Parts: sequence; structure tokens; C-alpha cells
Amino acid sequence: MARIFSGIQPSGELHIGNYLGAVKNWVRLQDTHPGAIYCVVDYHAITGTYDTAVLRARRWGMAKSLLAAGVDPSKAALFMQSDVPAHTELSWLFTTLTPLGDLERQTQFKDKSSKMESIPAGLLMYPVLQAADILLYRADSVPVGEDQVQHLELARDTARKWNAKFDQPYFPEPKPLLTPTRRIMGLDGQAKMSKSLGNTIALHETDEEIWAKIRPAVTDPQRVRKSDPGRPEVCNIFQLHKAFSSDETQTHVAQQCSTAGWGCMDCKKVLLEGMVLELTPIRRRSEELDAEPARVLDALADGAATARAIAGETMREVRGYMGL
Ligand code: ADP
Ligand code: NA
Repeated sequence: MARIFSGIQPSGELHIGNYLGAVKNWVRLQDTHPGAIYCVVDYHAITGTYDTAVLRARRWGMAKSLLAAGVDPSKAALFMQSDVPAHTELSWLFTTLTPLGDLERQTQFKDKSSKMESIPAGLLMYPVLQAADILLYRADSVPVGEDQVQHLELARDTARKWNAKFDQPYFPEPKPLLTPTRRIMGLDGQAKMSKSLGNTIALHETDEEIWAKIRPAVTDPQRVRKSDPGRPEVCNIFQLHKAFSSDETQTHVAQQCSTAGWGCMDCKKVLLEGMVLELTPIRRRSEELDAEPARVLDALADGAATARAIAGETMREVRGYMGL
């Protein structure tokens, strides 16, 4: 049976890009793959400057949002990366077989470090820690969004190199598992919805807040007047319909758009209905967890215990194979 692992940074909000691109798959896969492992990767969140109080709040907030989104601690282990020290231990072992050049060539490293006066070595090592996160559980499938596919390549290289060097077929080469909506565009029309670009809708937003963001959102740029027929296949609002509306509604919306029967505002109102239907229960569960924080803490403690047991076994075997 394939082992599922995935992680997410405690970045301040769980947005619908994260949800549709990755977390919805986490929730689906916990039913088909008992023992799935999901991690809030807080060690990844400290490679830049940050505020300790803010990070503390975000770690908690992300764990809560994942539970509210449907991660079920009776089916999957949910835990905080820093509660399982083996992540950094395996990461050290992997640094001894990762070529420096491969790390320096990573696009994300080049982008981030080019703006820095002094580059923390941890920023360079980030993908090595990510490889350790996954391989520690010998996961073969990693539900992520499209933007993470390149990063997974380094984890695959690491597994291959380690297996060759120590002559053991020990680590599987982890494969990405994408959702049908593998990349959600930003509300501003940018290629990716991302917290750092400020073009997101967070899972916890109210109906009014969602509408205030959808109303001015970019649609097909060629549709200027209401009488211009639109192109659903390039419209980010239609992309959201595909995620939130029924098949029947999608067909109707596409037909109304491409014949200029509806204006974009008509189409957005129907989208809002679908979003409210799916997101209201998530928001409600989030409020319940605010009132009962012990449920979040208990889930994290149980998850960490499960993860530590698997990780401990891996480390014992890996040290042995490496002559340690
Ligand atoms: P962000 O990019 O907002 O900082 P993360 O990098 O923590 O979010 O990503 C968490 C998960 O959500 C990853 O699996 C990532 O691939 C996925 N993800 C992030 N943004 C999107 C998006 N716009 N569309 C699809 N998936 C996304
Ligand atoms: Na990101």
C-alpha cells in the first residue's frame, strides 16, 4: 500500500489555492490510504526573518485550519515538524550526498537569495530538509500543487543516490499526486494564487469577504463589454466554477459566458453560491476548534507520537546501513 506524505508551511492562512491544489487531496486520500502523514513544516518557516509571536500563532492556526478543512486525526497523523527531531537528523545525513551545485541551481533559492545581503545556509538546504520530510516516512506519493513538482525532483534524486551509494533499495522515489485543479490562478489574474502575492481567498473568510474579493476579480481579459462573448477556458472565475459548482452549473455557466448571455457579474454570483456551500462547514468547524483548542493540541500530540515511531524506525535502519 502506497504511503502518503505531505507538508504545508505555517504561512498565516490556508487559502483556496492550497485547498484545491493540495489539501482537498489530503482529505480524500486519508480514506483510501490509511496511515497518511500530514505535517505543518515549521522548520521551513524560519529561513527568513520572522516574528516569534506571529510564527507561534500561525503554527497553531494552520493546524486548526487543516483539521477544519477535513483532515481527520483518526485516519491520518497530523503533526508539527519540530516535534519530530528525526526530520533534521535525516536532513544532515542527506546533505552529505547532495551536490552543492544542485542546491545553488534551485530557482526558488536563486530568487530569494538574490535579494539578500547575507544568505543563511538554511535557505540553501531547504530542499534537503524537504527530501528528508518525505523520505523519513518512505512515502511514495506526495499530494501537492503543481508548483511543488520541481521540488520533488530533488527528493527523487536523493532517494536514488542514497540507494545507489549504500546499495539498498530502501527509499522509494516519491511521486507527486495532483488534483484536477493543479494550479489555481490569483484573483488578480496572476499565474498563481499565493499568500505572498496578496491575491487569495482564505478558507476562513465570511461570505461578504469572499464576495468583496470575487466581485472585482479578473475574468477573461478579452471580454470588455457584456456583449462580448467570453472564453471560459481562460477565465479564472470559470476555473473556480470547476472546483465549486456542479457539473450542470458548469455547463450552463460556460454556455451563458461563451454566448454573452450572462455578464461576468451574473457568473460570479452563481460561483459565490457554490463557494458558500462548500466553505461554510469548514468555517464552522474552525470556529468550533477555536472554542476547544485542546482538540487541536490532542490531535497534534497523537500525530507526533505516530510520526516519531515511524521516523525512529527509519533512522535506526538508515544509521545501520550507513555504518553509524
Ligand atoms: P503558498 O504558495 O501560498 O505559500 P505553500 O507553498 O505552503 O503555499 O503550499 C502549500 C501547498 O499548496 C503545496 O502543495 C502547494 O503546491 C499548494 N499550492 C499553493 N498555492 C497553490 C495554487 N495557487 N494552486 C494550487 N496549489 C497550490
Ligand atoms: Na510557496
